[in-house]
Amino acid sequence: MKELKSYLETNKQRFLDELLDLLRIPSVSADPKYKNDVRRMAKATADHLRQAGAEHVEIHETAGHPIVYGDKMIDPKAPTVLVYGHYDVQPADPVNLWDSPPFEPVVKKTKLHPQGAIFARGACDDKGQFFMHVKAFEAMIKTAQLPCNVKFMIEGEEEVGSKNLEKFCRENKKKLTCDVVLISDTSVIANDTPSLTVGLRGLCYMEVEVTGPNKDLHSGVYGGAVANPVNVLCSMIASLHDAKRRVTVAGFYDGVEKVSGKERKMMNGAPYDEKTYMKDLGVSDLMGEKGYTTIERTGIRPTLDVNGIWGGYIGEGAKTVLPSKAFAKISMRLVPDQDPKKIEKLFQKHFENLAPKSVKVKVSAHHGGYPVVVPTNSVEYKAAEKAMETSYGKKPLPQRGGGSIPIVAMFDQVLNAKSVLMGFGLDSDDIHSPNEHYGLFNYYKGIATIPLFYRFYSEMKKKK
Ligand code: BES
Ligand code: MN
Ligand code: MN
Repeated sequence: MKELKSYLETNKQRFLDELLDLLRIPSVSADPKYKNDVRRMAKATADHLRQAGAEHVEIHETAGHPIVYGDKMIDPKAPTVLVYGHYDVQPADPVNLWDSPPFEPVVKKTKLHPQGAIFARGACDDKGQFFMHVKAFEAMIKTAQLPCNVKFMIEGEEEVGSKNLEKFCRENKKKLTCDVVLISDTSVIANDTPSLTVGLRGLCYMEVEVTGPNKDLHSGVYGGAVANPVNVLCSMIASLHDAKRRVTVAGFYDGVEKVSGKERKMMNGAPYDEKTYMKDLGVSDLMGEKGYTTIERTGIRPTLDVNGIWGGYIGEGAKTVLPSKAFAKISMRLVPDQDPKKIEKLFQKHFENLAPKSVKVKVSAHHGGYPVVVPTNSVEYKAAEKAMETSYGKKPLPQRGGGSIPIVAMFDQVLNAKSVLMGFGLDSDDIHSPNEHYGLFNYYKGIATIPLFYRFYSEMKKKK
């Protein structure tokens, strides 16, 4: 391990420079405009894997963006770790809200990152985090300390729902056979409070279209007589929460796991300061389901949010119009044991029932994903816990994350493998927002922790 440490120390600057180069590639999966850049990013990822010492490196074509695979099999009797990550990023807009261009990374100090943080789209989600695995792997190979088999599967469609990854996994079950999936795509509570993610919320993402009159109308000539679809959509949306901020979709809470008082108490024991939380977000109050704390509202409770709403005139100045149509994108975060497929149907039915006769509604579904809970008594959890405890000098707290990685539940089903969610970002790193960043401390801490996981996991597996 001493050699490893000095390898990391010697190559520190190069590890950073290489990441900065990857961050210059605008691999935005949602926007077809960037298709070639996404491909360039896949190629760069494959090249890095090869240079680090991976074999069988390939860029697997899909109906969408490619999946990068590579492995290093050292011993058929040793355990196999499958590293999953994503090289695609969210769109950078609104670009004018960035302090520096999103694809021209800069390192700047912040209050939470006194050693500096890399500002760029994808710095934390997930380029900085998946690349830690490539660099940790390189270090283990170059110092001859890789204790087990490794497979890498880095995809380019996570941010658009991993549409083609499931098919790839089903068709390549054998190739992807593994004992555990290792993922760094989540956060720690704070840099002095390490944590392991033990839950992810599921997702059900819908789109609605409300149509009133068959054309845009003069709002003076017709206003007051004909249903305005924007007005109607707003009241329909408003009715999706009750006075206690519970979701009113009939059947929504059926099957929601009741978390024990013991676990709730433990969750709420994690360091959290409401005043700082509100100050960071520039809000003077919080809002959420009655009877639950902020940690619970984002960790163990399902929610519904409008992600976008449009219709009518939104150009310069004023136009008096009674629009023909109104639209909204509405997503629901789900918890065990809610089923996104069932929720989709419940939402559709509920929304259709809500509509007054004066309008027509169309409800359609985008991507979704199942929620995840990770047991804390498994070999892989213990190994991750010990790895973090060794590198941080503090035992990590188990914490449920509010975000979703829809493919994780599928790994369990299709590959029959449990995942370790060992992320190193901070919730305040502004992923998906302007000025996304990733701390240098976090980047290097991740690279140092990953080999410890491999070592402890291999040792613990052997003993079992
Ligand atoms: N890495 C995030 C998920 C995440 C972030 C989990 C922080 C826990 C803590 C991932 O890239 C993501 O953004 N997922 C999407 C889902 C996807 C279907 C677009 C999400 O959660 O919105
Ligand atoms: Mn991610
Ligand atoms: Mn993301």
